[in-house]
Amino acid sequence: MSRKPRKLNRPVPATTDPLRASVFSGIRTVQAPPLDLPKEILPNTRLKMDGIKFLSMLPGDSVPVAFFDPQYRGVLDKLAYGNEGQTRGKRRFVLQQMTMDLIKKFMIGIDRTLIPSGHLFLWVDKFHLCQGVREWFDGTNLDIVDLVTWDKGTTGMGYRTRRRAEYCVVLQKQPRKAKGVWKIHNLTDVISEPATKKRDHPHAKPVDLQGELMTAVSNEGDYVIDPAAGSFSVLDAAINRRRTFLGCDLEG
Ligand SMILES: C[S@@+](CC[C@H](N)C(=O)[O-])C[C@H]1O[C@@H](n2cnc3c(N)ncnc32)[C@H](O)[C@@H]1O
Repeated sequence: MSRKPRKLNRPVPATTDPLRASVFSGIRTVQAPPLDLPKEILPNTRLKMDGIKFLSMLPGDSVPVAFFDPQYRGVLDKLAYGNEGQTRGKRRFVLQQMTMDLIKKFMIGIDRTLIPSGHLFLWVDKFHLCQGVREWFDGTNLDIVDLVTWDKGTTGMGYRTRRRAEYCVVLQKQPRKAKGVWKIHNLTDVISEPATKKRDHPHAKPVDLQGELMTAVSNEGDYVIDPAAGSFSVLDAAINRRRTFLGCDLEG
């Protein structure tokens, strides 16, 4: 008996028409406006500056992507490691810690700077993930839309379980939407990337993971900001992904 030939699924041709872009298309239809930058803010540079001042110098509704990795006081207080100023805790302790009020000011500045439907990738640790960070952005136009877990591959501190992951909360400025805004659809919500000691910063975040996230919500040439950039991992990610970095750190 002859078998009927199996019907093959034909690939759907990719559309370049934004109006026909499906939820799963790789087209970003939200466009970032051109930016008039003050002369102090040089693109793709490690600026030594206060992050709040940096944010106040950027025009409102102007950038599609922000990263923020607070140097929060909360961890040291609540977990009471008791090793501040000693070998293991030393590199963390010498960094300028952020109070809750300062973190809120950063969130307000980022909210003002993002374009409508722009994204903020906010790094949090296990403690803040469980306690909740909602209070940090009360009164802003930001909303949580997703969460990505970074599996660092290395084992850190922790009395009960030892830490191997950090978390990146994905926030979006209103109006919340995915279609035509988020354009990579095969990202999983747990991403492994070995932590590297090469960056010489105790809190350095993964360059490729951040590159993938910014690629999902921006187009080539778009601006990506990080107002507390530490080792400037976001700068490297932006250059790798042909985006334009703007950012600073108190330490430069
Ligand atoms: C958690 S680290 C950022 C690490 C960074 N994401 C990376 O991948 O290397 C936070 C940084 O915030 C900086 N910082 C603290 N207060 C600041 C402020 N007011 N303005 C700018 N940077 C600040 C600290 O110096 C520290 O390097």
